[in-house]
Amino acid sequence: MHMPNLKDAKIRTNKKVETKLASNLKSEKFKNKKYFIKTYGCQMNVHDSEEIKGIVENLGFSETINLEESDLVILNTCAIRENAHDKVFGFLGRVKHLKKDKSELIVCVGGCMPEQESVSNLLKEKYPFVNIVFGTHNINDLGKMILESSNKQNIEVYSVEGDIYEGMEYKRDSKYSAWVNIMYGCDKFCTYCIVPYTRGKQRSRKIEDILKEVQELKDKGYEEITLLGQNVNAYGKDLESDYGFAKLLEETAQIGISRIRFVTSHPWDFTDEMIDIIAKYDNIMPYIHLPLQSGSTNILRLMGRRYTKEEYINLYNKIKNRIPGVSITTDIIVGFPNETDEDFNETLEVVDKCKFDGAFTFIYSPREGTPAAKIKDNIDLKIKEERLQKLNEKINNYSLEHNKEYLGKKVKVLVIGASEKGEGKMCGYTETMKLVNISGAEKDLGKIIEVEITEAKSFSLDGNKVIKINN
Ligand code: SAH
Ligand code: SF4
Ligand code: F3S
Repeated sequence: MHMPNLKDAKIRTNKKVETKLASNLKSEKFKNKKYFIKTYGCQMNVHDSEEIKGIVENLGFSETINLEESDLVILNTCAIRENAHDKVFGFLGRVKHLKKDKSELIVCVGGCMPEQESVSNLLKEKYPFVNIVFGTHNINDLGKMILESSNKQNIEVYSVEGDIYEGMEYKRDSKYSAWVNIMYGCDKFCTYCIVPYTRGKQRSRKIEDILKEVQELKDKGYEEITLLGQNVNAYGKDLESDYGFAKLLEETAQIGISRIRFVTSHPWDFTDEMIDIIAKYDNIMPYIHLPLQSGSTNILRLMGRRYTKEEYINLYNKIKNRIPGVSITTDIIVGFPNETDEDFNETLEVVDKCKFDGAFTFIYSPREGTPAAKIKDNIDLKIKEERLQKLNEKINNYSLEHNKEYLGKKVKVLVIGASEKGEGKMCGYTETMKLVNISGAEKDLGKIIEVEITEAKSFSLDGNKVIKINN
C-alpha cells in the first residue's frame, strides 16, 4: 500500500512510462447488483468515470441513479477548489447514513482528492465506512479492489505517475460524442493549481493508439470526438517522436469524423501551425477554450502562467483573424494573493478587448502543497465576491452580444439529447459550442441538423429545425 505524499509527487521522476493493456476483469459475482456513481470536476474525471463504469459493469453491476437502491457507491472526486471538497464530504454524510441500514454496501472514493495526503488520512481516520480509496493512477486496479473488498478499509493511492493503459472498455455516456484522452497529467505547475500533484507529470499517448481509437469511434457512428488533456497543445513534448499537437490534429481530421474538438489549450504552447491546421480543416471545430486566468502581467507572473497580458491579446487576435467565425471562451481567477484593484481592472480591460464568447470565473482557493498557498491569501472575501460579480456581469453581456449575432442565422447543430426546457424540445451544440434548444427535432438525436436561430440569451440559443423541401 502506498500512501500519497505531495512532497513525493513534486519530485520529477525519470520513470519510464509504459503502455500496458487494461485488465478488463470479467466476473458474474455481482450479477443483479447495482452501482451508483457521482462525478465531480473536469472532463478528465467525466471520462475517467466512463472507464470506471466499464470496469464495474464487467464485474456484473448495472447502473442506478438512485443512491438508496445501490450496492456499490463510487465518488469520483475533484480537488481543484475548497468547495469541491465540501461537496464530497457533504455527500459522504448521506452515504454514511445509508450504510447504517445496509452494512454490505461497498463505498469507494477515488479521483483527485485522495491524491492529497491530508484527504486520504482524513478518510482513514474519520470515514472508516469507506471500503476502498483509490487515486487517479490506479483506476485500472479498481475491479480487483472491488472483487477483494472486505470490511477492512483498503487505501491504494499512488503519488508517482501511472503507466498508460490501452484497450479500456469504456461505458461511454453518449453514442454520438466521445472523449478521447490524448495525454495524462500536466507539467505546467501554475502556482495555484493542484492538478500536477493529483494527476502527475505529463504523459502523452502514442499517436497510433489515439488514431486507432478515433477510427473505431467513427466506425461505431460517432459524429464528434473531443481530444482531452490538461494542456493539449503540449501533446507529444514528452514523447521521443516529433509529433506535436498540430500533426495529431491534422491526422485526426483526415480520419474524417464529422466534428473534432479539443480541451484545454494553454496559450504558452499555442503555435501558428496549430492555428493553420484548425483553419484548414472544416471538421476541426472553430471553438477554442483559452484560459486567461488574469489580465495583469504581474499576477500572471505570480501565477507562473508564462505569458504577459500583451502576449495573450496578440495570440487571441491572431486566432480570431485566421479562423473565420471562431468562438473563444476562457477561465479567469479573481482574488489571487496580492491582486490589487489595478490588477483586477486590467483583467476587465482584457475582457473588454477580447469580448469572450463565455468564461468560467472562479474565486481563488488556496490549495495545500501548491506554491501559491505559501503566499498569504490576503484579499478579503467580500472584495473577491465583488470582483467576481463585476466580472460576471461583463462576461454575460459579451456572451449575450455574441449570441445575438446568431439571430436569424442557420447553423449546424449536433443533437445530443432532450432539452431541459421540456416541451418536446431537443438540445445540441453549434460548431462554435453554443447550446441550442431546438423545436421540431424529436427524431434527430445523434444527427447534425440545420437550425434557424429565433432567440438569443446569455447562456443559450433557441431555434427551429430547418425543414428542407425537395422538389
Ligand atoms: N488545464 C486547464 C484547466 C485546469 S482546472 C488549464 O490550464 O486551463 C480549470 C480551471 O480552474 C483553471 O483554468 C483555473 O481557472 C481554475 N483553478 C485552478 N486552480 C484554482 C484555484 N486554486 N482556485 C481557483 N480556481 C482555480
Ligand atoms: Fe493547472 Fe496550469 Fe496545468 Fe492547467 S496548465 S492543469 S491550470 S497547472
Ligand atoms: Fe478537479 Fe482533478 Fe479535474 S482536481 S478539475 S477533477 S484534474
